[in-house]
Amino acid sequence: MTWPRAVAGAILTRMKRFAWTAAALASLAAPCAAAPAPSAADAPRPPPLRLAIAPFGKWIGTAAAYQPLQSDPNYAGLLAEQFSMLTPENAMKFSVVHPRPGADAGSFDFAQGDALVEFARAHGMKVRGHALVWHDQIPDWVTHPFPSDAQLVSTLQGHVAGVVGHYRGKLYSWDVVNEAVDSDGTMRATLWSSLGPEYVIASAFRWARAADPNVKLFYNDYGAESSPTKADAIYELLQTMKASGVPVDGVGFQMHLSADKTYGDFSVLLKRFAGLGLEVQITEFDVNTDGSPAQLQVQASLYARGLKACLAEPKCTAFVTWGFTDKYGPRVGQAPLMLDASYRPKPAYDALEQALFPR
Ligand code: GLA
Repeated sequence: MTWPRAVAGAILTRMKRFAWTAAALASLAAPCAAAPAPSAADAPRPPPLRLAIAPFGKWIGTAAAYQPLQSDPNYAGLLAEQFSMLTPENAMKFSVVHPRPGADAGSFDFAQGDALVEFARAHGMKVRGHALVWHDQIPDWVTHPFPSDAQLVSTLQGHVAGVVGHYRGKLYSWDVVNEAVDSDGTMRATLWSSLGPEYVIASAFRWARAADPNVKLFYNDYGAESSPTKADAIYELLQTMKASGVPVDGVGFQMHLSADKTYGDFSVLLKRFAGLGLEVQITEFDVNTDGSPAQLQVQASLYARGLKACLAEPKCTAFVTWGFTDKYGPRVGQAPLMLDASYRPKPAYDALEQALFPR
């Protein structure tokens, strides 16, 4: 992969900061099939983020979308070059992976998910499966005709067993339950929680564990970094799950941030939940802006704070962003990611490099 011309120019201006020898790059590059070998014709360059974070024993990841991976070589190249972990943005959500009723082979559609998993395998990337039980992106067949409680349990069990079973042995982790706690700290009222939130959550983790004994099982949610009420509610939920023997391994903090808000110390949050004996990850990091230079600087400092919080917490294994280029994604108008829509590094990208190589 070579960077687009504009990006290469930006990189060249920064190359002097790094004293990378060919030997150092080669030793770090071992797990990265996509990293080009240095040669006389290919001048030294800053290490991709995935290589820069490797000595910390952590992964840097991003949500990845199926469509641009097929159609945009720059997208595919940068994804492989810069990241060591990948979360399918939509490809493993209920509506995509399980579009038809039932739980037999014809009910599922693993084409997009399989393509992303194969891409990750080919480039030495870990995969975070996302997301099994969520109130959003559910296909119509689940609720039309409206199911009895017994039918709903059977649908969800078939979904979890079918999807986790299909990917058994191939993923690092699953977001088993996503956003079960509402913004006010109460359990969210959803189709699934109508069965009893504790029952559904505990069952989903047990079904997932039965379908893949080795994949890490995560609870994933938003807002804990800005709402003490929500953070407390998630903490109590996880504490109860641990105490009742529910097989939960980790907690993911989405961290969809805004440059016009202020935040406390993310490392305090990570440490608190690590204290439950859980692995912690930052799973969907992005920072909405108005696109102004001032907000892009605030964005950069928040990216640095997020990454540094993960680096500082021994039980934090990954810093994952919700995409990497402002060209694609759910919030393109708010320029929330580390590269601009032409793949040029933004201050946020520089801030990540700086956090990994303090000078
Ligand atoms: C939530 C979900 C993600 C994604 C984002 C969009 O955070 O977990 O899958 O849909 O919203 O911003």
